[in-house]
Amino acid sequence: MARRELLICGEALLRKKAKPVRRIGPDVLALFDDMVETMIAEQGLGLAAPQIGESVQAIVVRTDSGEEGAEPLTYRLLNPRLVEASGEQEGLEGCLSLPTLRGCVVRAARVVVTGLTPEGKDLTLEAEDLLARALQHEIDHLRGILFTDRAEENSLVWMVPDEDEPQGFRYEPTTLREAQEAFDRLRARRGRGGR
Ligand code: NI
Repeated sequence: MARRELLICGEALLRKKAKPVRRIGPDVLALFDDMVETMIAEQGLGLAAPQIGESVQAIVVRTDSGEEGAEPLTYRLLNPRLVEASGEQEGLEGCLSLPTLRGCVVRAARVVVTGLTPEGKDLTLEAEDLLARALQHEIDHLRGILFTDRAEENSLVWMVPDEDEPQGFRYEPTTLREAQEAFDRLRARRGRGGR
C-alpha cells in the first residue's frame, strides 16, 4: 500500500472521462488500497481514481459507522452508477484536488448507487445526507466534473487557518478565477519539487 500524490485542479486528467474497469485483478485491489490510504492520510471523505492519476472508474468513500469509537466504514466501488436520486440538500463541499477551497453545492439528499466491489461482485448502496453527497461528488469526478462546476455563484471560500476562531479557521470569499490561479501556482511549485 502506498500513499499517492494527489492531482491538483488544472491537471488535464481531472477533466477526462474515466474508463470503466473490465478486468478485475490484483492491480485493481492495489489501486483501491492506495486510494483508501491516500484518502485517510489526507483526511478526505472520498476519493476518485483520477485524483491519483488513474483514469479508471473507481471510487472510495467513507462514513461513520454510527457506533461510538468504531472505525469508519469504507466503501470501494468500481464502475459506479447513480440509479436513483431524490430530495435536495445544500451544503459546503470541498475536494482534495482543490485544497482548502469550499463552495455551496446543491445535491440530491438520497441516492442509490450500483457498481462492483473490488472482487467483482454486484453492490448496491443506499445513502443519504453526507454519504449521498460524497457519492455524487466522487461519481462526478469520473466524468471530469469538479464541485466548482456545480457550486453556487459567489459561494466559494478559502478555509484560512485562524487560531482566534473556535474551529481553528475562518472563511474568506474568493472567485473561481482567483482559486484557479492559486491552484496553478500550487501545481507549478510542486512541479519544481516543492509541495
Ligand atoms: Ni473531489
